[in-house]
Amino acid sequence: MGEGALDSRVVFVGEAPGRREDDTGRPFVGSAGKLLDRLLAKAKLNRVDVFITNVVRCRPPGNRRPKREEVKACSGHLMKLLEIIQPEVIAPMGNSAIEHIFEMFSLEEGVIGDVHGKACRVGAAWGSITVYPLYHPAAAIYNQKLLGELEMDMEGLAALLG
Ligand code: URA
Repeated sequence: MGEGALDSRVVFVGEAPGRREDDTGRPFVGSAGKLLDRLLAKAKLNRVDVFITNVVRCRPPGNRRPKREEVKACSGHLMKLLEIIQPEVIAPMGNSAIEHIFEMFSLEEGVIGDVHGKACRVGAAWGSITVYPLYHPAAAIYNQKLLGELEMDMEGLAALLG
């Protein structure tokens, strides 16, 4: 289902488990996870204090992008998880997660290059919350420009949390 503090003020949502994640049952433990850990630490956000999960629960064959019906099949689980944690901020990482979280909270579609690092207020069943889109850490591993943007956005998120 994911990993972290059930009383976390922020839930990070990735796309899908990769092979290492599927093997271990833990989200973001491969190379993208190592970068996420570094980014969290740099922004003084501790991995154990936040909650990290994915849009879909299993690794799609060949590590392809999850299909619409797969996302739909897992959507109820994700919503239930969010309702249990009731975060103040949801941070979808990457296109799949941004698309799905935007749809879940009736936000108008936006391209990642425009919406990343921008706080959007939405109404959730547990109150008014913020959706804060981020680039996916995997996209920033070999791209210095995206890495810089992701670092800045993570600082922005930390500032939002106060
Ligand atoms: N990429 C994701 O989107 N999720 C993970 O858990 C690992 C890599």
